[in-house]
Amino acid sequence: METALAAVATRPGAAHLVTRVEPVLLPPRAPGSVRLRMLAAPINPSDLITIAGTYSRTVFPFRPGFEGVGEVVEADGDAGLRLGSRVVPVRSAGSWSSVRDVAVGDCIAVPADIPLDQAATSFVNPLTAITAVEQFVTDRRPVVVTAASSTIADHFAALLAEVGTPAVGVVRSSRSRVRRPELWSAIVRSDAEDWRLRLGSAAADAQVVFDAVGGDHAAVVMETLARVRLLVSYGLLSGEPIDTTRLRPRVALRFLHLRALVHDGDPTLLRRRFDRAFALIRGGVLHTDIASTVPLCDITTALEHAGRGGGKTLLRVSGPTVRCSRGR
Ligand SMILES: NC(=O)c1ccc[n+]([C@@H]2O[C@H](COP(=O)([O-])OP(=O)(O)OC[C@H]3O[C@@H](n4cnc5c(N)ncnc54)[C@H](OP(=O)(O)O)[C@@H]3O)[C@@H](O)[C@H]2O)c1
Repeated sequence: METALAAVATRPGAAHLVTRVEPVLLPPRAPGSVRLRMLAAPINPSDLITIAGTYSRTVFPFRPGFEGVGEVVEADGDAGLRLGSRVVPVRSAGSWSSVRDVAVGDCIAVPADIPLDQAATSFVNPLTAITAVEQFVTDRRPVVVTAASSTIADHFAALLAEVGTPAVGVVRSSRSRVRRPELWSAIVRSDAEDWRLRLGSAAADAQVVFDAVGGDHAAVVMETLARVRLLVSYGLLSGEPIDTTRLRPRVALRFLHLRALVHDGDPTLLRRRFDRAFALIRGGVLHTDIASTVPLCDITTALEHAGRGGGKTLLRVSGPTVRCSRGR
């Protein structure tokens, strides 16, 4: 039986403490599935949250990696995927592995001109941002985006600029680095004393807030913006839920989960949104900054560095330069 190297979270906890790389046996590929040699995979907040044990559905030991890009090394003759072509697997974790098998219907073919790092990050943030803007932005009044230094916030700003809607960003401190400041009509730092005043004047007409922070921060942003009618919650970076009793009665709260779009949504729509993501990546509208690229074997270092700012940590998953010495 073939073996692969895979990251495995042995139990719930801080990812750098509970995740290690180990050899795993690969059963023969099942008909209807495609064998992928994984090439690169980012570390996203959703991976860390899942490894932390936030969701009761996660079974440990758990093989993480919700996003990544791989090369087809084995497939049925009628799979419609060329050997050597690159695909993004969706609907399951396991991309922090040198080889993985994925149902052919869960593979999205990547156009050959998309660079490897952008292909590896073409799914989670681009599709969520594209979906949110398509679904919730209906006019050109400003949209407020919290955690504006995040990768997805940069995508929001770029997509809003495409439709002529001003984006007002909120960051937590002067150390927070907004990726492309020119995309924003204003950036407000919530550690400044007068930040609520600044936010209120920069986004006086805002109707929509895209929030990834939750907790007290989201509540204060909402209390500051009297005209906002819609709060789209798509993350809880603070670790705290939104206190709905602090929302004005006319505010609608909507939760956005890529998982729901991928698992319960229309597969044709999913592919259409991927086509859009690839076109926007090709045009430079969507871009994911990569802070560092780390071999899979150095998973502990990679996990320690993830989320420190400056962009994503990308795992180089397989290839001639990725070799693990025993015991790592
Ligand atoms: N619902 C979905 O389906 C979905 C899909 C994609 C992403 N998301 C969510 O979107 C969020 C951002 O993801 P990403 O991949 O773009 O992250 P990222 O590029 O890794 O950036 C995360 C940024 O968040 C900021 N941050 C962390 N904790 C914060 C806090 N308590 N308050 C304010 N800012 C904080 C940090 O900025 P500074 O250190 O610079 O301040 C950090 O740079 C995550 O919560 C993720 O789970 C959700």
